[in-house]
Amino acid sequence: MADYLGSIEERPVKAQVNPGDIFQQLPTSPPNSGEQFEAIFRDFESIILPGMTHWQHPSFFAYFQGNNSAPSILAEMLTSTLGAQCMVWLTSPAAAELEEMTMCWLAEMLGLPDGFEGVIQDTASTATLCALLTAREKATNYAINEKGFPHNNFTVYSSAQVHSSIDKAVKVAGVGVENLRKIAVDENYALIPEKLEEAIQEDISNGMRPLCIVAAIGTTGSTAVDPLRPIAEIANRHGIWLHVDAAYAGTALVLPEFRWMNDGVELADSFTVNPHKWMFTNFDCNAYFVKDKDALIKTFAINPEYLKTKEDDAVNNYRDWGIQLGRRFRALKLWVVIRSFGVDGIKNKVKLHIELGQWFADQVRAASDFELMAPVPINTVCFRYHPANLDDQSQLNNINQEIMDRLNDSGKLFLTHTKLNGNFVMRLVPGQTTVEKRHVEQAWELITTFARGENND
Ligand SMILES: Cc1ncc(COP(=O)(O)O)c(C=O)c1O
Repeated sequence: MADYLGSIEERPVKAQVNPGDIFQQLPTSPPNSGEQFEAIFRDFESIILPGMTHWQHPSFFAYFQGNNSAPSILAEMLTSTLGAQCMVWLTSPAAAELEEMTMCWLAEMLGLPDGFEGVIQDTASTATLCALLTAREKATNYAINEKGFPHNNFTVYSSAQVHSSIDKAVKVAGVGVENLRKIAVDENYALIPEKLEEAIQEDISNGMRPLCIVAAIGTTGSTAVDPLRPIAEIANRHGIWLHVDAAYAGTALVLPEFRWMNDGVELADSFTVNPHKWMFTNFDCNAYFVKDKDALIKTFAINPEYLKTKEDDAVNNYRDWGIQLGRRFRALKLWVVIRSFGVDGIKNKVKLHIELGQWFADQVRAASDFELMAPVPINTVCFRYHPANLDDQSQLNNINQEIMDRLNDSGKLFLTHTKLNGNFVMRLVPGQTTVEKRHVEQAWELITTFARGENND
């Protein structure tokens, strides 16, 4: 593991394999007798590793990171060694109490206002689903849990730039994607509150029942920041649950100068952030904060005889704070990371990553044949190659797709894309634990060289 991390820069960032390449190297049946670990490890190195995309490579600029760190890896090894299943307090009192305290630490680090209580979920998708289910149950006095749906007239609201996990949550919660209203965004790709108000009014006058608004602090496409306070005021006025999805950008709240993004959060009902994205804590570790803890628990509580304990009234039994019964000991790695880095250490890394993003954005601004395609509030840079003589949008889309594919095939860096206003844009997100200025400089050098056709490989 140490060798891997120490030499990771020698590997191509994106796996250089084709579909089926790994599958066809694997025996079609399992071995009857146990094999030597050396033999298994040889296959791990020769078959598995070449088929991996190296998420911990400092030149991994794709999606949002799932970054880790040595303290987090060590903590995960301890978690595996303990092998505890932390469904109720009794099954691992330390896991439950550490989770409670680690969530208090995180709330303080992010400047969350009093009144929120935290619980660790596997992913932001699960946290958002929990929010929607709790909103649904609270709005119906817990009737759907008991009787199922009499009929569905719920509606949910988010911006047109919202993450697909919201679409998934409305499917699973029985609201239906047809009842997810994707509200128009402004020139910064942030939700327009007036359009939200209009949509709610229209739904109410048509007999619909607005259930939940999901505001994004950092959309997936371009980290656009929805204006939380006016959205929260609308939610409060209509008695609608407000869930804040800060899955990626929430980590930037460790820096007080970025807390403007969360202005109005005290009016929200729930808030979620993924330490497994940008807080050096390896996947999976999501933090879900909720104001009405009782509503959350009432939505998910089960109490079979075999799980009853005499401490039930005095402790947090986290099995009732979400969907799954069995739970991993995820708090340990977050606790170890926060203690090892210290809050200042985390702030310094995040600050560096934002500076690297801003540096890259400056290069794009200064180059006459490149353009920025969205504001860069944090460190996600959306850009494209746009030479002076070319204005056909579909040609520009094709050229940029080709440039990105060739860059990724080079193995020297990994970028992904999105579409903004129908335009294909490349995204570069410098947030890897070990990323340095030189990696971002090299990325800019490679991107310009490939785009300008100076690379004839
Ligand atoms: C804004 C936003 N919300 C939610 C998610 C989903 O995260 P998870 O994979 O933890 O479910 C993502 C993933 O990138 C995201 O960018």
